[in-house]
Amino acid sequence: MACKRSCLMEVYKFLLFVTLFLPREMTSSVLTVNGETENYILHTKPDSHESLTCAVNHTREEELLWYREEGRVDLKSGNKINSSSVCVSPISENDNGVTFTCRLQSDQSMFISVVLNVTFPPRLSGDDFQTAEEGSDVQLVCNVKSNPQAQMMWYKNNGSLDLEKNRHQVYQTSETFQLSITKVKKSDNGTYSCIASSPLQTETKDFHLIVKAKGWTIPIEPIIAACVVIFLTLCFGLMARRKRIMELCMKDQEPQSGTPL
Ligand SMILES: *[C@@H]1O[C@H](CO)[C@@H](O)[C@H](O)[C@H]1NC(C)=O
Ligand SMILES: *[C@@H]1O[C@H](CO)[C@@H](O)[C@H](O)[C@H]1NC(C)=O
Ligand SMILES: *[C@@H]1O[C@H](CO)[C@@H](O)[C@H](O)[C@H]1NC(C)=O
Ligand SMILES: *[C@@H]1O[C@H](CO)[C@@H](O)[C@H](O)[C@H]1NC(C)=O
Ligand SMILES: *[C@@H]1O[C@H](CO)[C@@H](O)[C@H](O)[C@H]1NC(C)=O
Repeated sequence: MACKRSCLMEVYKFLLFVTLFLPREMTSSVLTVNGETENYILHTKPDSHESLTCAVNHTREEELLWYREEGRVDLKSGNKINSSSVCVSPISENDNGVTFTCRLQSDQSMFISVVLNVTFPPRLSGDDFQTAEEGSDVQLVCNVKSNPQAQMMWYKNNGSLDLEKNRHQVYQTSETFQLSITKVKKSDNGTYSCIASSPLQTETKDFHLIVKAKGWTIPIEPIIAACVVIFLTLCFGLMARRKRIMELCMKDQEPQSGTPL
């Protein structure tokens, strides 16, 4: 009984040793991606081509798996055993921050990850023209994509914009730079420039804000309607007067017609 117990303990101890220490020793040098044995960041640029080669140095045949983020990459049959390559071509701005991971099929806790760092100058977009009625609130939204992140600024009519505490608000997220103006005034009319400065490049985009006097656009339709009413009234008035004029003429003509010439 006693032996059985102690023997079992020995077996457990051995198994524990195997599971704890053996794999750790193997992980240190089994997998490589482009020759690297640890996770790394790959610096690249849009439109370039990158190929990642994962290799296993092992005494037996090993199948490799590639993941793009959480998704399995579909590999051709000749591109799975002992060595496997994936190509990202061309690299796009959207590949920035994406993780590629190579795993050992037989032991998926063994892996090497590569994170893409795609650097590109600032790209700005948004509505070029915006019309606002005096007294309304406006938002000028400058969409920005840049890596590394750009330093953002608003200018007005080529000069720095003095932010008024209660009327102007600047709001920034990783992909937008926004200027809110509450209760716009005539003097807010002008060209606002969204300026993005990155170590790679400084980029500017103009936003034209046209402030219209209050109620400038509303009366067009009522004015047309009023014109039609006035026109019709005039017509009816003229017709009525014409009838009377005609009657007068007839009266004038009557004695004339009887006059023998
Ligand atoms: C596997 O890699 C390790 C470390 O780089 C090296 O020492 C060993 O010789 C390699 N084994 C084979 C079979 O290539
Ligand atoms: C994979 O590597 C093992 C061990 O080095 C080797 O025996 C086997 O032939 C290799 N298989 C392929 C398809 O390269
Ligand atoms: C990517 O590279 C840029 C410039 O080399 C650096 O400023 C930025 O911090 C890097 N980003 C990450 C997530 O490593
Ligand atoms: C801002 O500067 C540019 C270039 O110097 C010029 O073409 C433009 O007319 C200026 N705009 C204003 C509103 O001053
Ligand atoms: C309002 O701003 C626009 C855009 O900058 C400009 O073209 C226009 O001349 C300005 N109008 C007035 C009245 O200042």
